[in-house]
Amino acid sequence: MTTSPTTDLDDPTALRHGLADQLAAAGHIRTPAVDHALRTVPRHAFAPEVPLHTAYADDIVATRHSDDGTVTSSISAPWLQADMLEAARIQPGHRVLEIGSGGYNAALIAELAGPNGQVTTLDIDPAVTDRATRFLRQTGYDQVRVVTADAEHLPAGVVPDGGFDAIVVTVDTWDLPWIDALAEGGRLVAPLRLHGYHWAIGFTKDKGALHSDEPLVVCGFVAMQGDGVWNTNRRTVPGTGVHLSWEDGTPLPVDQLAPALTREPTVTRTHITVGGQEPFDTLTLHLAGALPGFCRLSVDPDADNGILNPPPRHWPGAAIVRGASLARLATERIGDGTDGKGLYEFVVHGHGTQGHLAAQEMAEQVEHWHRNHRSARCPLITARPAAGCAPAGTDHEPHVFAKKHTRITVDWPIVPGSAALLTDSGSCGAG
Ligand SMILES: C[S@@+](CC[C@H](N)C(=O)[O-])C[C@H]1O[C@@H](n2cnc3c(N)ncnc32)[C@H](O)[C@@H]1O
Repeated sequence: MTTSPTTDLDDPTALRHGLADQLAAAGHIRTPAVDHALRTVPRHAFAPEVPLHTAYADDIVATRHSDDGTVTSSISAPWLQADMLEAARIQPGHRVLEIGSGGYNAALIAELAGPNGQVTTLDIDPAVTDRATRFLRQTGYDQVRVVTADAEHLPAGVVPDGGFDAIVVTVDTWDLPWIDALAEGGRLVAPLRLHGYHWAIGFTKDKGALHSDEPLVVCGFVAMQGDGVWNTNRRTVPGTGVHLSWEDGTPLPVDQLAPALTREPTVTRTHITVGGQEPFDTLTLHLAGALPGFCRLSVDPDADNGILNPPPRHWPGAAIVRGASLARLATERIGDGTDGKGLYEFVVHGHGTQGHLAAQEMAEQVEHWHRNHRSARCPLITARPAAGCAPAGTDHEPHVFAKKHTRITVDWPIVPGSAALLTDSGSCGAG
């Protein structure tokens, strides 16, 4: 891999090499092909509205907003683009579909697929495809085919005979309706929502199903529009400002929970600790699959009555509902930690008359994860076409997520736990 000695802030080439150096040092760039692509494609030409140094920062560039200010299109963060392109394993000559356009990532893919490859990028928003078409032409990547369509329904003629060799999904998706469009042996990389948690997952298609084989990366992308929009099934406990969401699984009634949320909870200690900077995303994925009635709990900041203490801050917290009772995962600071960033214990708060039992149930799963799966950086995820599976019942099936097009199974390898081994996770809000 090449490196550049200069860091001139007015020189896009220097900035581009500086960014690639940074991504390689952090392990996001892992092959010469991805390294070459990131050092070649002029990212700033796809983001003319921002200063050069912003275009080459390791962050998203928002390019389109809805009327309420929500970002609806962006150029994704370079670290995540590099991770996803590495996971896609694109080779010269490959036929590749990118879902969600912007132009820049399609140009990176075009570098990887080479002159004999075929790259299609597809977006639901004509303003995005207009822009992508223009920038791809201006930068010399006009061989990329740009299509305006809802990815939920790939238009006839877009999918090549035998399917794509790789599909890279760059929009937050609740389901994977693209298995048929992928060639056998092909790669699909997507930020998949499992119970509201987003995971960038690389799959290989084998005998008609998708199988993940790499560590998962936690990420955030702009929301899906069109017919693939997911239903958050968000319910509000009356008079409390507390919301419970069932993005997967069967939503439960919540009205009866109001009294439980007005009294102090019981606290079940797990004696399992986590560092202040240590991700524990696989714990929430494990709890989401293991526990019936799993949901995610959030609270309006101005409705906080002190009962949910500490309230979930940046992200909704893991919770389960048991009749008129509820348990939720929380962390309690118990020290500074060796790095000074804090040492926390997982505790489970039980609300309502049966809250202590629900809390015990959740605490047992925290212990199970810690003992058996904590160092498993890579639970194996399989996506099978729903059409070939038995209809999903209303009973909880552990670690199975029934989607519209697919049935997702999460297999947890048994690996004796060690906190020190839990390291792999990206940051959020990157696409
Ligand atoms: C993060 S941006 C894509 C970033 C781009 N790949 C890049 O070069 O960095 C996500 C895009 O997905 C698009 N999108 C949302 N829902 C879609 C759908 N149903 N079908 C196709 N595109 C969709 C949005 O319009 C948005 O432009």
